[in-house]
Amino acid sequence: MASAASMEQRQGFRGDKLRCGVIGVGEEGATLIRKLTKHGHEVRMAHSKDPEDMSGLAERTGAQPVEIGEVVKDVDIVFLSIPEKAVPELPKGLFKGCPSDMIVVDCCNYYPSRDGRIQEIDNGLPESVWVKNQIGRNVIKTFNSILAGALEEAGRPKGSEDRIAVPISGDDSKAKEKITRLVDEMGFDPYDTGDLAHSWRQQPGSPAYCTNLDLKNLETAIRSAHKEVMPGLRDEAYRKMSTADKQMDWKSLVRMLRETYANPSKQTGLEAMPGTSSTTTTTA
Ligand SMILES: NC(=O)c1ccc[n+]([C@@H]2O[C@H](COP(=O)([O-])OP(=O)(O)OC[C@H]3O[C@@H](n4cnc5c(N)ncnc54)[C@H](OP(=O)(O)O)[C@@H]3O)[C@@H](O)[C@H]2O)c1
Repeated sequence: MASAASMEQRQGFRGDKLRCGVIGVGEEGATLIRKLTKHGHEVRMAHSKDPEDMSGLAERTGAQPVEIGEVVKDVDIVFLSIPEKAVPELPKGLFKGCPSDMIVVDCCNYYPSRDGRIQEIDNGLPESVWVKNQIGRNVIKTFNSILAGALEEAGRPKGSEDRIAVPISGDDSKAKEKITRLVDEMGFDPYDTGDLAHSWRQQPGSPAYCTNLDLKNLETAIRSAHKEVMPGLRDEAYRKMSTADKQMDWKSLVRMLRETYANPSKQTGLEAMPGTSSTTTTTA
């Protein structure tokens, strides 16, 4: 059977070559870097430490390790893939002087058990609005709600039966259009969740979060999200993940998240559990 990667290559993805900066080179950032470079995009990358530490990833992908101040220079898109608590630790004025059409993609999520309490988010401010306020720049929210393992392995050519969908929120329609093309190029059906004010519908605890749904079921899941119950479900999922006997692979995580987030008795308003009906396609 052909691998997902070779299927993607055969499909011949379209799209201009982009210059990208990636901040954070952990599980999520490194996966993004592998995907972006595989599709021929130019990538520079940074974390909070010495760029030298990224030499292995640089060798494997061709991405250029740089100091954090350099990662936003001369790029079309910057991806934030760091823990939520690290966002306020980014250098002050990092984006000063960057052109207004440079896009910042927020891939981050808030987990209080990992990030500590962030009062404004606890009080209901959508996570990406908080990120936008912290960095003083508009953001597009995407890739936050697909696990790194799925991002790496579950991309499929357009029209494939088992193609999963990825939500995108944001206020800038031009920027969203560009990111929509990129999501499609990476092998996923883009789904427009609306503006940033509604981006909580793709946050941890929502039925759309990392549950690998196809387009039709993602649409249902986004509509079914129930803000009040989401923090409790998010914390329950985090607890299950961190107390599991052995580390869960991404497919087991998707199954666990589906069970936890789409339980109709908890996610009020959710009549059917998206992703578990016979009509749903998933790679998990
Ligand atoms: N893992 C996933 O499947 C996944 C999927 C979707 C979204 N996300 C989200 O993506 C973000 C990163 O997750 P992850 O799993 O990749 O975490 P991770 O493996 O712990 O990696 C975090 C990265 O952020 C860097 N970092 C931390 N503080 C920083 C700072 N102040 N400035 C610059 N870089 C900093 C770390 O490098 P140094 O500490 O060495 O600087 C590291 O490279 C989280 O918000 C997560 O919720 C993760």
